[in-house]
Amino acid sequence: MAEAHDQLTPDVVRPLLRGRFGTPYRWSPECASTQDVLRDGELPEGAVAVTEHQTGGRGRSGRAWEDVAGRSLLASCLLRPAAGAPAEQLSLVTGLAVAEAIDRLAGVRSELKWPNDVLVGEAKVAGILLESSRGGVVCGVGVNVDHVATELPDGTRLRPTSLRAVTGRRHDRAALLAELLLALERHYDTWAAAGLAPLLPALEARNALRGARVAIGGVAGVVGPIAPDGRLSLTRDDGSAVLVASGEAQVLGST
Ligand code: BTN
Repeated sequence: MAEAHDQLTPDVVRPLLRGRFGTPYRWSPECASTQDVLRDGELPEGAVAVTEHQTGGRGRSGRAWEDVAGRSLLASCLLRPAAGAPAEQLSLVTGLAVAEAIDRLAGVRSELKWPNDVLVGEAKVAGILLESSRGGVVCGVGVNVDHVATELPDGTRLRPTSLRAVTGRRHDRAALLAELLLALERHYDTWAAAGLAPLLPALEARNALRGARVAIGGVAGVVGPIAPDGRLSLTRDDGSAVLVASGEAQVLGST
């Protein structure tokens, strides 16, 4: 268990919050998954659940998300986009917020592996999971913050890393959470008002796959820009263009 001064308790986090996201703030030393804490149906947009350790952390595609107590940022935020809004775009909106918060706090340059992984170099430092819940979207973020190399999970699709492994020092998880919530609120409000278009330049600047040869769900091609609706553009070997809506990109090489 994390030491008392190091926990993301409400008394530590609340004074750092600068926007409406993070209220109410639900913290527990341990839970199954922060995603489930926000499922009671009555909570307002911006409600956040954080824990030091998950016993049933979930990743994408039915995978588990493992953590070491007190080392990660494990947070979920409840969003309530308008009915009919393309909520799948929220993984890019959230990814941008995570990447910016990480860079500000750790002084690194992170990138986005479409649609929802955050990389430093070629290694994954954070992942995003969107789940729908009774008219809302629970947006879960897991960031490997203070893991030493031996604490990082084995057998993952992408090589994992942590901010500590990258920078050689520990980082302030409470400050990272506050930065993340502020950036998420700002980008979410922009998206809710005007869609993905205003965020595209910032997303494209962090598009880790641009120019790579990838396979996504049976389609192989070279990655072009992220489209205005959040789909990823690919150019197949025969020169034809295709837009991919979802899936995990397997990198086959760079062009
Ligand atoms: C992925 O990369 O597969 C997504 C990982 C998402 C993990 C976070 S940790 C906080 C929230 N609670 C969960 O059970 N999952 C998300």
